[in-house]
Amino acid sequence: NYSTATTPTQPSQPPLILTQDELKKIAAYKAVDFVESGMVLGLGTGSTATFAVDRIGELLKQGKLKNIIGIPTSKKTQQQALSLGIPLSDLDSHPVLDLAIDGADEVDGSLNLVKGRGGSLLREKMVESVCKQFVVIVDESKIVHHLGSTGASIPIEVIPFCWKFTEMRLQNLFKDLGCVAKLRTIGEGQNEKPFVTDNANYIVNLYFKGDIGDLNVASDAILRLPGVVEHGMFLNMATTVIVAGELGVTGDGPKCVI
Ligand code: 5RP
Repeated sequence: NYSTATTPTQPSQPPLILTQDELKKIAAYKAVDFVESGMVLGLGTGSTATFAVDRIGELLKQGKLKNIIGIPTSKKTQQQALSLGIPLSDLDSHPVLDLAIDGADEVDGSLNLVKGRGGSLLREKMVESVCKQFVVIVDESKIVHHLGSTGASIPIEVIPFCWKFTEMRLQNLFKDLGCVAKLRTIGEGQNEKPFVTDNANYIVNLYFKGDIGDLNVASDAILRLPGVVEHGMFLNMATTVIVAGELGVTGDGPKCVI
């Protein structure tokens, strides 16, 4: 029951092209089909996950879902869920979740992800690592052959103490690959300051020129550096990826679907 991005109508009419936001919404609504009453749910962060959280709130209001408990992955999502009347809890009270729904910045063919360009990677990874099902929702622009190969960032959450030192060590880890490490900032000129996460940490973005090699090796090396809290590669965590794109929506089976 989902539209395709390009819907042939009559021969003389141009095809209907959906916007990126419409695609995100379609993927999000499809993911919410996985939600059942009584579930403990991880609530993701970002422009795509927002559509899913809105939809869960709507179904609760309509009485079509009951007894949902949400575990938000950021302060922003917490605010959104509270405004929608979604009952919330935390990992201390619910260390195992039935399902989480979240967006991603990149998805490869093995369902590995880059997340955290919105800055919420640590809480997202804590929540999504203890879900029985982790449903990822993306539009087709997020699909890549290799994580990090598009030149966009792989975010690393670091503690503020001597962040330049940690930034340098991160860059040195991958210097043979021409990696550049750069603190994420907000504002410009005199107003430029570090982006601060919900956990009062900073983010160092890693920029690669091409393939970053074995993802597990890269992950281990990053996590061994003192000063690093977590990185934005979510390896072997997604159970389903729902991709909304030109050919419609994929994501009906377990382990989907690109
Ligand atoms: C936030 C995230 C987001 O899920 C990711 O950035 C995708 O966001 P969007 O749906 O807005 O493209 O990881 O930390």
